[in-house]
Amino acid sequence: MSYYQVKNLEQYFKHYNKSIREPRKFWDKIAEENFTWYQKWDKVVEFDMQEADVKWFLNAKVNITKNCIDRHLAKRGNKTAIIFEPNDPKEEAQHITYNELYDRVAKMANVLRDQGIKKGDRVCIYLPMIPELAVSVLACARIGAIHSVVFAGFSASAVTARINDSECKMVITADGGFRGSKSIDLKGIVDEALEKTPSVEKVLVVKRTNAEIKMKEGRDIWLQPLLDEAVPNNVAEIMDAEDPLFILYTSGSTGKPKGMLHTTAGYMVFAAYTFKNIFNYEEDDVYWCTADIGWITGHSYILYGPLLNGATTVIFEGIPSYPDFGRFWEVIDKHKVTQFYTAPTAIRSLAKENTEWVEKHDLSTLKVIGSVGEPINEEAWHWYNNHVGKKRCPVVDTWWQTETGGIMISPLPFVTPTKPTYATFPLPGVQAVLMDERRNEIEENQVVGSLCIKFPWPGMARTIWGDHQRFKETYFTAFPGKYFTGDGALRDEVGYYRITGRVDDVVIVSGHNLGTAPIEDAINEHPAVAESAIVGFPHDIKGNALYGFIILKESGESRDRANLANEINQHVSSHIGPIAKLDKIQFVSGLPKTRSGKIMRRILRKIAEGDFSNFGDTSTLLNPEIVEEIKEGKL
Ligand code: PRX
Repeated sequence: MSYYQVKNLEQYFKHYNKSIREPRKFWDKIAEENFTWYQKWDKVVEFDMQEADVKWFLNAKVNITKNCIDRHLAKRGNKTAIIFEPNDPKEEAQHITYNELYDRVAKMANVLRDQGIKKGDRVCIYLPMIPELAVSVLACARIGAIHSVVFAGFSASAVTARINDSECKMVITADGGFRGSKSIDLKGIVDEALEKTPSVEKVLVVKRTNAEIKMKEGRDIWLQPLLDEAVPNNVAEIMDAEDPLFILYTSGSTGKPKGMLHTTAGYMVFAAYTFKNIFNYEEDDVYWCTADIGWITGHSYILYGPLLNGATTVIFEGIPSYPDFGRFWEVIDKHKVTQFYTAPTAIRSLAKENTEWVEKHDLSTLKVIGSVGEPINEEAWHWYNNHVGKKRCPVVDTWWQTETGGIMISPLPFVTPTKPTYATFPLPGVQAVLMDERRNEIEENQVVGSLCIKFPWPGMARTIWGDHQRFKETYFTAFPGKYFTGDGALRDEVGYYRITGRVDDVVIVSGHNLGTAPIEDAINEHPAVAESAIVGFPHDIKGNALYGFIILKESGESRDRANLANEINQHVSSHIGPIAKLDKIQFVSGLPKTRSGKIMRRILRKIAEGDFSNFGDTSTLLNPEIVEEIKEGKL
């Protein structure tokens, strides 16, 4: 494979400049040299950033699973593609070779076709982190069905909303999932979710926990007997470069989740290129990303990126603290992991435990360690660097988003000198810029601004499923002609970027992107609640936690506050999922609002942080007296 891999900073600058001067030539060469195509493209890219209209590799024909699996078979058929490490360390790990992966994906693809799934149909996948999840995703891609993986921690109503938004025809789930010492009743959640989903015709059920579950006649089918009957051969669907590959939902600043749509060829090229360059993957390496496949990190860097490179990738079913705090380090030791990719929240939660948990395992195989999902604070960075990387492994702090499809800003290992809390330089091909409040591009360094990307890149989402207008408004109108990330950033004196956090109403909690609006909507549905406002506040482990300011209806006034707070949290948990629970709830009699009725969240944020020093300009507030009252209530 030749991906313009760079060996030193000088080469980085050279390639970066080339990628900006001649982006078409840059991506053309990468796409040409590293993939198997049925038919090449007529044109590398066509775009109108004003209209949020972007196409890559026009009229090319390809199937991503041919590139993930088939083309490796001759050389790597017996190489392990996936190592499955179960939740319970006493259960044996599985090693799935590329040959076996081919058979399993082919069988699953045939099952899907037999069950009436065709190219373009949407399939919702709601599975724990087991090999069947990977196989289901790849089988959809094989036959051109659009996978919509929903993280198996979401509640029934969140599943309903996602299924209905994209009108999924099928759900693939399991009888249950293991998570640390608990098992989760996934099928029960799906049954509840499917009470209001007219588009779903069939549910395929994987056996994992052997829990007693209900099977609905005519709708639910056990998967294994179908697979046992299926033929281990499958002719892949020929996909156009811009045919949809998957939908993945992310939170937004209104209640409705955004179904980000990624298409085939551009996503493939970008996932593969970024994986190779950021993790420096070499043939016998064992790569492990601890994310869940239900998030974009899992899509791009557990499945597609590694498999496109013929890598060995670990799928881990468990959690970092089960059966003890040494679990991550034990898995690295056991499977001789060479690249390890995790989230700051996990690092912070493990850093507060005794370092013996790390010291007692052999981590000498590690070469590169990565971080993703939220800003990594200085203390966590150093702990990771010292205790896990032993100061020999570069820490790649990778900045990107569900919308970007792949990593955008990150150090290149052994090339870019790392700097704690900095994602450093944009990758070649990524034209990052900072914009000031007057929508001008800031040329100089040592500045802060809104982070935008000024030229398309192959991995970018193409639209929001069913709502192109929202796509355009959310990402392409704040800074016309540019993609706006929603993040603020600082650029230091050498041009390194440090992401300072969201500048919109999204809060990143434990690396999960949570829109405040959907949580407020859920809270407001509680019969005792009149209105609410959610803000984030700093939290030692989670990065940010949620603080809710809640106004009660008269009927709620007489209720016990602690009980009510519990009920509200349960309500949030069942509407969105346990990750959206509030850490703090303060009942208030009003919220600070501008004359146009907008809640002034800036003030609430300061109160939640406990910083009462300077509320800035409050002259536009309709009810300035409420600020004092809320402040008193907090004290
Ligand atoms: O705010 C940024 C933060 O996570 C957001 C994207 O969230 P999501 O779409 O769920 O994707 C997460 C995994 C790619 C970004 O807008 N974020 C992500 N990576 C970093 C980060 N913030 C700081 N540093 C990072 N390395």
